Amino acid sequence: MSDDTIDTGRRRFLTAATTVIGGVGVVYAASPFISSWFPSAKAQALGAPVKIDLSKLEPGAQMTVEWRGQPVWVIHRTKPMLEKLPELDGLLRDPTSEHDQQPQYAHNEYRSIKPEYLVLIGICTHLGCVPMYRPDIGSIEPSWQGGFFCPCHGSKFDLAGRVYKGVPAPLNLVVPPYKYVSDTVIVVGEDQKAA
Ligand code: FES
Repeated sequence: MSDDTIDTGRRRFLTAATTVIGGVGVVYAASPFISSWFPSAKAQALGAPVKIDLSKLEPGAQMTVEWRGQPVWVIHRTKPMLEKLPELDGLLRDPTSEHDQQPQYAHNEYRSIKPEYLVLIGICTHLGCVPMYRPDIGSIEPSWQGGFFCPCHGSKFDLAGRVYKGVPAPLNLVVPPYKYVSDTVIVVGEDQKAA
């Protein structure tokens, strides 16, 4: 995938339909004085769930939204991306995600509720930099299979956010709580109920 495509994904982020559920965030933004009358309003707004429409996210593209002051990524993984994941297990520190870095409903080989949509907190588990999405094979080094690269100290993650062996980051990237409210709309910050 070219950088153009990635940029397209970022632009899409700017225009993506992201909504803070409930009125607290809107009220706070419109009337800053409210925060001094009701000190808990800001805290509530910061923690409010975020609704994300995935319907315009093209295969292979990434979008980013903010939740609780953190970047949350959604990647629309293609079939070849998904097929590659099991081949990488031997190169990874925690290929079966035994560490508690994801909700139970994302504790599977894809680390997601639906295989094609990966949802991650975009913060490196080493010292907190924001890694780069580099889906193209060979784009970081000849053996690169596509994934996330953290330029701060060279940590590498695959397209399920699983950390490679031999890099400074100790753990897989975090999967936040999220749920589907329709086929193509998710809410980050609320848990998927058991089927
Ligand atoms: S913060 Fe990512 S490798 Fe150090």
